[in-house]
Amino acid sequence: MYDAGKVIAGLLIALVLFTLPVLYHVVSGESVAIEKLELGVPEGVTECVRSADFMRREHMHLLVDWRDAVVREGKRIDEESGFRMSLTATCLGCHQKSQEFCFRCHEFSGVKTPYCWECHVDPTGSQ
Ligand code: HEC
Ligand code: HEC
Ligand code: HEC
Repeated sequence: MYDAGKVIAGLLIALVLFTLPVLYHVVSGESVAIEKLELGVPEGVTECVRSADFMRREHMHLLVDWRDAVVREGKRIDEESGFRMSLTATCLGCHQKSQEFCFRCHEFSGVKTPYCWECHVDPTGSQ
């Protein structure tokens, strides 16, 4: 006879060990397969509007801050970077392959693709 309790405990431990790396990556904000992402930026461009590390974790909050600044406060320019605060013109004006960058990472991370494109134009035309 098998000891059902031990078998189940073993299976649970295996399951946790198996999913930990994935959970770790998602929770830490790192992409599971970052090497498969294409920044899609013009040649010679090496910097984002903030550090890559900040952007990886905080880009969704930055986008909301930008929207609020534009829509509620009537500001247009991001003081920290000097860029115009625009999802379409700025983010996707530089990251020109949204499919290989934004949406590929969202897919890996299990994030529902944002609904922003119902109103905002994706100039890469891929949504
Ligand atoms: C129902 C339509 C609608 C949806 C959905 C929507 N927006 Fe907007 N958004 C607007 C409008 C209208 C403006 C004002 C445009 C302006 O004044 O330039 C705006 C402005 C913005 C701006 C600043 C101006 C610019 O050109 O980008 C940002 C950033 C922004 N939205 C981000 C987002 C993000 C991120 C999402 C998805 C999470 C989103 N929006 C979803 C309608 C929408
Ligand atoms: C002028 C070009 C440019 C603009 C504008 C720009 N980015 Fe970036 N972005 C980059 C570059 C270059 C990197 C890589 C930087 C590095 O590795 O140090 C990057 C990195 C990122 C990363 C991190 C990717 C990773 O390594 O995991 C995210 C997320 C991101 N950008 C989103 C955005 C969003 C959202 C916007 C608009 C709010 C934006 N970017 C605007 C050029 C740009
Ligand atoms: C390195 C991976 C990665 C890249 C690259 C990336 N995202 Fe994200 N994005 C995420 C993760 C993870 C979340 C969910 C975070 C959370 O729920 O707290 C997210 C959330 C968002 C949200 C909020 C979604 C919502 O429903 O509230 C928006 C908007 C967004 N990303 C836009 C973009 C845009 C635009 C780009 C490309 C310019 C981009 N992202 C590139 C990983 C990424």
